[in-house]
Amino acid sequence: MTIAQITDLHVTTEKDPLNQRRNEERLRQVMQAIHGLRPRPVAIIASGDLVDRGEREEYVELKRLMAESEIPIFYAMGNHDSREGFLAEFSGPGAETDENGFVQYTVDFGEMRMVVCDTLDGPNDGEYDEARAAWLARTLDEAPDRPTAVVLHHPPIPSGIRWMDPDPNSPWLGRLEQVLTGRKQVKVLMCGHIHRAFNGVFAGHVVSAAPATSIQLTLDLTEVDMHVPDGREILVEEPPGYALLMSEGGNLTTHMCLAGDYAPAVTYNFPFRKLA
Ligand SMILES: [Fe+2]
Ligand SMILES: [Fe+2]
Repeated sequence: MTIAQITDLHVTTEKDPLNQRRNEERLRQVMQAIHGLRPRPVAIIASGDLVDRGEREEYVELKRLMAESEIPIFYAMGNHDSREGFLAEFSGPGAETDENGFVQYTVDFGEMRMVVCDTLDGPNDGEYDEARAAWLARTLDEAPDRPTAVVLHHPPIPSGIRWMDPDPNSPWLGRLEQVLTGRKQVKVLMCGHIHRAFNGVFAGHVVSAAPATSIQLTLDLTEVDMHVPDGREILVEEPPGYALLMSEGGNLTTHMCLAGDYAPAVTYNFPFRKLA
């Protein structure tokens, strides 16, 4: 069984024609690739930055684009989102809120469980306050033995692309670490936000950050002065991507995928032999 993860869609309207055209085109490419996968994923998780400016009209546009999907879609909030705008257009499965109004919920897929968290705060850095952390602790304790994927827009570890990374001393990271440490059913933290695929470890769990459907960030790991523009390349025309989570025998495995029409290199016309 598989679940596709798309992230950082940044869907927008004709107010921003360049981003509107590019981001819609790239989202369509990714959705087409996902619909062509065999076996077909049972669900798609869109892990935040669903739209670009958090405006209601952008969520109307998102809804229009996603209505074409034959696969159910679940949503998480990113820093470009607005809960108000999102919840004005989306409700029910894939858009549920906790008792405090955060977009946080769980979904069961066969033996595995997905826990969607809401790390939305301000313009860039994430947030996970006491109320949200308490919800997560309680939610994870409801099913301590089921392989669980936790969805967070903001990766809780640095990517090395410094202008995007969280302040390592942010209190929300400590709260999250406290909740996740030792809860062994958590097999993977599925993230987005960096617009680039990378992996790492947080609180003893694998962090798997997926590439964006919209534009990718340039891999530049050098120091940057946030106040002195130095002309560096920030965004790059790499193909749009997505992640594919496979649940099998209690394991959760993540593949990073590029969307595109690639020709086969070799086909299976002879029996496989074990290579010694
Ligand atoms: Fe983003
Ligand atoms: Fe983001």
